[in-house]
Amino acid sequence: MGNEEAVFYSRVLTELTLSFHIIYATIGVGVPLMIMIAQWVGIRKNDEHYILLARRWARGFVITVAVGVVTGTAIGMQLSLLWPNFMELAGNVIALPLFLETFAFFFEAIFLGIYLYTWDRFENQKKHLLLLIPVAIGASASAVFITIVNAFMNAPQGFDVLNGELVNINPLLAMFNPAMPTKVAHVVVTAYMTAAFVLAAIAAFRLLKGSNHIYHKKALFLTMKVGLVFSIAAAIIGDFSGKYLAEYQPEKLAAAEWHFETEENAPLILYGVLDNGEVKYAIKIPFALSILAHFNPTAEVIGLDQFPEDEIPPLYIHYLFDIMVTIGVWMTLLSLVYWLGVQMRWKMVQSKLFRWLIVLGGPLSILAIEAGWWLAEVGRQPWILRGLMRVEDAATTSGHVDTMLILFSGLYLVLGVGSIVVLTRMFRRNPVEQELEDRHATKGADIS
Ligand code: HEM
Repeated sequence: MGNEEAVFYSRVLTELTLSFHIIYATIGVGVPLMIMIAQWVGIRKNDEHYILLARRWARGFVITVAVGVVTGTAIGMQLSLLWPNFMELAGNVIALPLFLETFAFFFEAIFLGIYLYTWDRFENQKKHLLLLIPVAIGASASAVFITIVNAFMNAPQGFDVLNGELVNINPLLAMFNPAMPTKVAHVVVTAYMTAAFVLAAIAAFRLLKGSNHIYHKKALFLTMKVGLVFSIAAAIIGDFSGKYLAEYQPEKLAAAEWHFETEENAPLILYGVLDNGEVKYAIKIPFALSILAHFNPTAEVIGLDQFPEDEIPPLYIHYLFDIMVTIGVWMTLLSLVYWLGVQMRWKMVQSKLFRWLIVLGGPLSILAIEAGWWLAEVGRQPWILRGLMRVEDAATTSGHVDTMLILFSGLYLVLGVGSIVVLTRMFRRNPVEQELEDRHATKGADIS
């Protein structure tokens, strides 16, 4: 296998690993918060349905954590095996956030274990809930630290370059780089949003499949309400991400927006196709790109004309940007209409069609996460470490990456199918009605 092939297969394997891992990682970051909210509401309202929600979500969460750990370990391994030159150059700088990420994971795992095994050991449920706080903090902190590594790859700082090596390293300056605030906030908030909409999709599906139990209705209302809050937050922070790009990575914003010429009063291009360098069938919103980039409708926005051809990211990231933003806006509207509908007792939000739309919202939110990451990663090309090292210079020259790709694909297939089978069996074997009855019998709780 030649060098070019090694680079190609390294890219494909990294893309595959990250695309697979991000599904479990996102759910793993968002679900602890949802469990916390459900248990808190259950304690406050003395409502056994919300407590059961927390218990069932916690059980499912364990499976996603297990897969997330395996795929997260695969990423760590592949960083060194597939991108050795990158690790040699930047390994010293990113060691601190990588170490902190491992620390955050153990913090989460230890308290998760204690939380799961002490459900019925506390007289006071509020004390049991306290155990979940470090779980939720640990899960979100993992996302924060690993996103800091990614932010550093986009906006490297905190070192000097001497003879091609990074010296005088200041790890804290490297961690608190300009990309960090918006990236970290966007990743964490979209994980909360996605977890909420995935759980909403499951509740809507159960309602559609005939179980009209109030448990599922409460689950749906809670998850859609939380999803609404975080989808609005995702859009607001996404706007700040645009402003970050305009200042620090203008080539990424220009490629995502098909903004070829530097100009003032720049319009935003939505949708459309690129035909031989010509934009067709697009919706042009006047001044919107200047506003997105600089909060000012007349501001100048740097175009692709300012960059050498070999430093322009692939232009297909425009489609990824459109997919992400469209899903974000759609989910905000859907959850807003649902929330209003419940308040105003609109029949429409209980219709089959509306519930199917909510079911679709789960996979759509995951698709938005995938599109967001592809946009962020492909938009950094040709760099692995922006301005300092190109992807092709970072990769291994090993002749066995294609074999690795086949082996890891097999592993992800087994993990993907296995986790779905385990999750569906786990919940099918313990129907909600049965569990409520059992709990009623053992605790004499009020489940009316
Ligand atoms: C609704 C309006 C939204 C806007 C304006 C927006 C904007 C952006 C921008 C500009 C980036 C690139 C940031 C960079 O490379 O530094 C980005 C990345 C990303 N977006 Fe969005 N986004 C929106 C909605 C969403 C939604 C709904 C999701 C998922 C549910 C999402 C998930 C992501 C992810 C995972 C990334 C990669 C991490 C990052 O770079 O921040 N976004 N978004």
